[in-house]
Amino acid sequence: MNELLIIGAGGFARETAQAVRDAGDLKLLGHLDDDTSLHGTEVDGVPVLGGCDLVHDRSAAQVVICVGNPRDYASRARLVRRLGLAGDRYATVVHPTAAVSSTSHVGPGSVLLAHCALTAAVRVGAHVAVMPHVVLTHDDVVGDFATLASGARLGGGARLERGAYVGAGALVREGTTVGAWSLVGMGSTVLGDVPPGEIWAGNPARRLRAAAAPVLDELGTRTTGGPAT
Ligand SMILES: CC(C)(COP(=O)(O)OP(=O)(O)OC[C@H]1O[C@@H](n2cnc3c(N)ncnc32)[C@H](O)[C@@H]1OP(=O)(O)O)[C@@H](O)C(=O)NCCC(=O)NCCS
Repeated sequence: MNELLIIGAGGFARETAQAVRDAGDLKLLGHLDDDTSLHGTEVDGVPVLGGCDLVHDRSAAQVVICVGNPRDYASRARLVRRLGLAGDRYATVVHPTAAVSSTSHVGPGSVLLAHCALTAAVRVGAHVAVMPHVVLTHDDVVGDFATLASGARLGGGARLERGAYVGAGALVREGTTVGAWSLVGMGSTVLGDVPPGEIWAGNPARRLRAAAAPVLDELGTRTTGGPAT
């Protein structure tokens, strides 16, 4: 059984640890987090072994990066860049209740939590976070480092570009694109394309403002998310 280290010890990381336990196909070694106050403690019974750079000492273990929130959803991309691991170090974590169709593909470093559904020919890139009850329908394409919060739903042929964040319960109309590193607020209804690097919200969703600086910085970077999907 392959060993796994989870980078991060916050909410998303804990949910991923639970998915790993429920799936039972990886041996969870523990969390790594740069918050030194957590070192030597346990979260939900899982040890926090040390800082993120410990991945280099535990080179036999697979890794999944589970950080990111709506205030800074570029943190996964920054960590991938900083750690510089080979693509094959990254595991893909899929909760046993996720319904992933045989015609769909999920990239390395991505996490699919409980009860999400990928209906047909869905392509999910690398280091993507798919929270519980997300529904991705036929021909959707989700770029590297994207995040779908719980209950988000995409119509057929929708596209989330690299790093896009779709808030909890948001709806994206079929054939619509959410641009790179843009965020759609919780409960929003996206009826038309969202340009890159913007925050949109409401029903119908409208532009609120530009994304925050650390996120906008990612628009100009070339972090490798893993093999192209
Ligand atoms: C869109 C979002 C990023 C805006 O956050 P913010 O920049 O702090 O914005 P504010 O709360 O100051 O609100 C700014 C305006 O947008 C409106 N607004 C904020 N979020 C909204 C939403 N989701 N839908 C509709 N309107 C929204 C506010 O009512 C406010 O309007 P006003 O200026 O007319 O009063 C945030 O509300 C959001 O939806 N984040 C995603 C949350 C989520 O999905 N979390 C899952 C984590 S697991």
